[in-house]
Amino acid sequence: MALYEKPDYWSIKAKKEGYPARSVYKLQEMEEKFGLFSGASRVAAKSRFFKVLDLGAAPGSWSLYALRQWGKRIFILGVDLSPLSRNYDAGLFGGAHYVFLQGDMTTGEIRDAIVAQGPFHLVMSDAAPGTTGNPGIDTLRSLVLAEAALAYADQTLLKGGNFVVKVFQGGDTPRLLQGIRERFKTGRSFKPAACRRSSFETYYLGLDKESPLYGDVLKLSP
Ligand SMILES: C[S@@+](CC[C@H](N)C(=O)[O-])C[C@H]1O[C@@H](n2cnc3c(N)ncnc32)[C@H](O)[C@@H]1O
Repeated sequence: MALYEKPDYWSIKAKKEGYPARSVYKLQEMEEKFGLFSGASRVAAKSRFFKVLDLGAAPGSWSLYALRQWGKRIFILGVDLSPLSRNYDAGLFGGAHYVFLQGDMTTGEIRDAIVAQGPFHLVMSDAAPGTTGNPGIDTLRSLVLAEAALAYADQTLLKGGNFVVKVFQGGDTPRLLQGIRERFKTGRSFKPAACRRSSFETYYLGLDKESPLYGDVLKLSP
């Protein structure tokens, strides 16, 4: 096993607490610091439940965290190229509060299916490309996914809603953060403690979306 893959504190904790991946602790920290879900639930105060889009959802830790925390107050649409792990969810992924789409979030077919399930109060993307070891290529591929996630926020996120997206730092990422600042009252970057020290990943957050839905700006491949 390569050094990078060695189970560490966070992986062991995730296993003990019944999550398929350590990434859950990144989301938990961002919720505790920035109120991603609690803000979204306030925007939806008058509705029975609030809606979340989880891009790059597999194996399912972020979705599972949200379902466990918010129970019947939440509906989640998860999207990923890969299937979810069903080892920990105790039926939650098959329940009325969860829908999963398996496919590529940058394609027209998946875009139409996502838009049909919207609008959302929180759009979150932990999507990441398979890494090649070449930082230039990996950063560029990550940016394509992050820009697609922001395009979904443009088209499906309600006014007042929240946004979080994973990026591999480098290249044109400052422009993406600038784009987030133009759309949200607060735009910032944050690296959770559970990110591997060696990793160049970080998260950009957009809190309290200012504009209403654009509706026609989502530009992805057909
Ligand atoms: C770090 S994992 C996400 C972990 C997840 N948040 C969790 O808590 O279990 C990144 C995911 O992004 C997905 N991904 C990468 N490119 C994608 C694409 N074009 N469309 C959909 N999912 C994609 C990968 O399949 C992978 O499952």
